[in-house]
Amino acid sequence: MKKIELHLHLEGAAPPAFIRALAQEKGADLSGVFDERGHYAYDGFKGFLACYEAATSVLKTPADYARLLGEVLERSAEEGVIYTEFFVSPEFCGGGDVAAWRDYLAAMTEVADKAREQGIDSRGIVTIIRHFGADRARKTALCAAETAGTWITGFGMGGAEQVGRATDYAWSYDCAREARLGLTCHAGEWGGPTSIRDALALGCTRIGHGVQAIEDEGLMRDLRDKDITLEVCPGSNVALGVYPGCSAHPIARLADAGLRVTVSTDDPPFFHTTMRHEYDRLASTFGWGDTEFRQINRFAAEAAFCDAATREGLL
Ligand code: ADE
Ligand code: ZN
Repeated sequence: MKKIELHLHLEGAAPPAFIRALAQEKGADLSGVFDERGHYAYDGFKGFLACYEAATSVLKTPADYARLLGEVLERSAEEGVIYTEFFVSPEFCGGGDVAAWRDYLAAMTEVADKAREQGIDSRGIVTIIRHFGADRARKTALCAAETAGTWITGFGMGGAEQVGRATDYAWSYDCAREARLGLTCHAGEWGGPTSIRDALALGCTRIGHGVQAIEDEGLMRDLRDKDITLEVCPGSNVALGVYPGCSAHPIARLADAGLRVTVSTDDPPFFHTTMRHEYDRLASTFGWGDTEFRQINRFAAEAAFCDAATREGLL
């Protein structure tokens, strides 16, 4: 089964061995980032974000990001993925400086172009990080606007959803919309229906996670009426404790309610998952088969932040 993945954090897709090797090359101390088996070690969502940022601290140059993107695309292709959208942040790639960000983007674009020739297409979504605050977000949004329409075709926000309101970032979202970037926002992973409504107020056509919409019938109706696509990451939600297990996850109920549900891995090595693993678990838990998987991939293709011809090719 060919798969489309709309929600994958590039740093969050770094295998522990990749980060360990980089740390060794750079003489960086990453004690506390790994457990005794060499897996990422963290406790809860706050611990996850801290572990993620510590691991990311060894990614220091455009060449590091290019190497990472190449490795991740190769692994995704092995999973049957034909198109991926990556969350990447100029916060980590040059500290929000536009000239530095261009260097990182050039290095990643070269790798993405090569991978496209080998059968896996990709795009980048510039990501602001909510707990870094609105001032830093504005600088990141300017990086996004300056490079819109290159490999970068989208704009989003990740990070600690409980910090402030998404609408505090309206200036950044307006800037991205004016640059014609596709808009998404992590919402309804932790912040409930209100947080999803805030993301809609920003003009998002996609919601990162959005699973807590299940708690609000009226909101589900709005999401359906507005053709909003949910970037659902079941393995992530279970690993971080949003739901106690796959059978308690609302993905099947959201899909049955007529919402545009898609499936992604979020940060696969952190959650011990892969795209194939996600599909297998949905099949064994909810009895999903070809019909359901074809439908989620159709929704993903229709919502992809790429040009119409590429979208057609994915359908
Ligand atoms: N950044 C990486 N993964 C994330 C997640 N699941 N939620 C919010 N921010 C993130
Ligand atoms: Zn995410």
